[in-house]
Amino acid sequence: MNTKRILVLCSGGDAPGMNAAIRAIVRTGSYHGIDVFGARLGYIGLINQDIFKMTPDSVAHCIQRGGTILKTGRTDEFKQKTTRQTIGQFLKKSEIDGLIVLGGDGSFRGATLLSQECSLHVIGIPCTIDNDIVGTDYTIGFDTARNTALNAIDKIRDTADSHNRNFLVEVMGGKTGFLALEVGIAGGAEFILIPEVDISIASLAQRIRAPRRKKLGSIIVVAEANEPGRSVRIAEQLQHYAELEYRVCILGHTQRGGAPSAWDRQVACVMGAKAIEAILAGESNKMTAMVHGSYRLVDFPSEHQAIKTLSDTSLLTLNDILCDIPPLTTQIS
Ligand code: F6P
Repeated sequence: MNTKRILVLCSGGDAPGMNAAIRAIVRTGSYHGIDVFGARLGYIGLINQDIFKMTPDSVAHCIQRGGTILKTGRTDEFKQKTTRQTIGQFLKKSEIDGLIVLGGDGSFRGATLLSQECSLHVIGIPCTIDNDIVGTDYTIGFDTARNTALNAIDKIRDTADSHNRNFLVEVMGGKTGFLALEVGIAGGAEFILIPEVDISIASLAQRIRAPRRKKLGSIIVVAEANEPGRSVRIAEQLQHYAELEYRVCILGHTQRGGAPSAWDRQVACVMGAKAIEAILAGESNKMTAMVHGSYRLVDFPSEHQAIKTLSDTSLLTLNDILCDIPPLTTQIS
């Protein structure tokens, strides 16, 4: 395929490592004699016809920066066919024949529509701190987010210990519990509440109250489960059922920012380069992925099952043992 002009954009929530991927795309593109353009603010940049040429120099010193130098966004306007037709004409006029999208499943759905309607080659790079995209074991940003959250938990533990206090620490993760589980086990959380496992607050209170090694303070990690702030409600319920006071700390968007970890930078470098190679090889409607430790090119997740959920809860069972919690039969929802 003779692709000579490729456009790159970020869409949806930002994720640490996006800049490292952009840098890899621009520099690998340049290596192969391709002109790489960037769109500002994701699909909004396509609507506003706000694209610009990127050079190897333009991505200098961004590998270590969180966020995205291209900026990102979400827009409903893009869902309208007429908007996409105008974008198609603009891309044709700009002689863009390849598009690389950094984002999650929603961003890839938009890219698929463009590829079908504007005969464009599109490749996705999975970027989200939630690590919840079907088809890949890893999404860029997850490692940094789990370390950011862990760092916060370690700090909360210092003050919890000093005052003999209990804390609920709420982490992001969209609809899924990947972030909460990994952060909870690594942070020595007494309980980890994830959306995939149903547990009533009454039975949680019972387990907290069960006779065991005496503890003077504790941390429970709560996945936000698409309901930011739900830990406030849980704290009230625990006060009611367990007669224990829990302070609440919602980590929120701190988990999305910050310098990407070494792992996120490395994955971003490889996936960025592989995205360019995929377009050069004439591939389309695929995303770079990590499957059982190797890099692959896989189909975009299907619209019906784009989000992966956590099915292996063995770490929760292990955590109960490590935290001296009496067993409970949990249910995967
Ligand atoms: O990037 C994923 C995510 O952080 C989710 O964990 C969270 O629910 C959501 O994005 C929040 O996104 P925003 O505040 O940008 O709408």
